[in-house]
Amino acid sequence: MKIYSAPLQGFTEAVWRNVHNQVFGSIDGYYTPFLRYEHGEIRSKDIRDVERKNNTVENLVPQIIAATPDEMRPLLELIRNEGYKCVDINMGCSFPLQARKKHGAGILPHPDLVAGILDEVKRNDDILFSIKMRLGWQEKNEWHALMEMINATPLSHVTMHPRLGIEQYKKPVDIDAFAEFYNACQHPVVYNGDLLTLHDIQRVENEFPKLKGVMLGRGLLANPALGIEYATGKETTGSERAEMVREMHDKMHDVMAQRLQGNTQYLSKLKPYWEYLLPDMLKRDKKAILKATTIDKYMHAVNEGLANY
Ligand SMILES: Cc1cc2nc3c(=O)[nH]c(=O)nc-3n(C[C@H](O)[C@H](O)[C@H](O)COP(=O)(O)O)c2cc1C
Repeated sequence: MKIYSAPLQGFTEAVWRNVHNQVFGSIDGYYTPFLRYEHGEIRSKDIRDVERKNNTVENLVPQIIAATPDEMRPLLELIRNEGYKCVDINMGCSFPLQARKKHGAGILPHPDLVAGILDEVKRNDDILFSIKMRLGWQEKNEWHALMEMINATPLSHVTMHPRLGIEQYKKPVDIDAFAEFYNACQHPVVYNGDLLTLHDIQRVENEFPKLKGVMLGRGLLANPALGIEYATGKETTGSERAEMVREMHDKMHDVMAQRLQGNTQYLSKLKPYWEYLLPDMLKRDKKAILKATTIDKYMHAVNEGLANY
């Protein structure tokens, strides 16, 4: 089974991906957070995130979000010009600001819009597309109305995160609904959602033996060694994990300290990783990291936390 790194805005950006790949690897594909075309332009931050010169990961797949072919075209042009051959289409994002524009999971109740996007997929046959989607926005059978046209569109795979858009990340994933989708989808299927441990990955692999792969989001942010654990069939020990996280963090620190101005910018970029990273770290160590007010105090707290882990 393939192991993919999920797109997470604000987290799995180029620096994280490059450094994760150098230190941990064992990931078959890294997906970028979604690129969007808005107010007649693509944000320069999003452009930088996919530019080849900023990326050392070879198996990188840009993700786009769009409600119409007109919104798709400029994104595809950028991606094609950067030499990518694969593109993922976001039909799963639950951020209300995006969903209101019928982007992400907000497109799922609108088969006419999905049809427009899929027609554009067919027109761009030099690119290999995939879709990342939820069961629906409001109802868990919304995907039924889309299945026939999805099956009729050339795609490398469909990634299913079996929740509704309105549920965001709260309710448990709906494995029964996933099973129904898995049986109806004629494309290779990738499972995404709440895989936190090696055991979780092995459980879905056993339950769904035809899966092309799994996509890991928050689980990989929490334990960046999950891909290695799947490849070796063995959980890493606390000290092995801490050592690799230290190496990854040091490399991220080097890049960020150079790029970001002063304590505030640096801390606002790096601290959020600790909301996910090593959740079983001592509470007081985690608190010290999240409360640090200067880079020096932050680095001291990180070193303490990793030494005690
Ligand atoms: C902060 C955050 C940002 C996200 N950004 C994206 C995104 O840009 N594109 C996307 O398809 N999904 C995005 N997601 C959804 C994840 O890719 C993934 O589908 C979701 O977190 C469930 O998988 P997990 O339980 O393994 O994390 C985001 C999720 C979170 C929590």
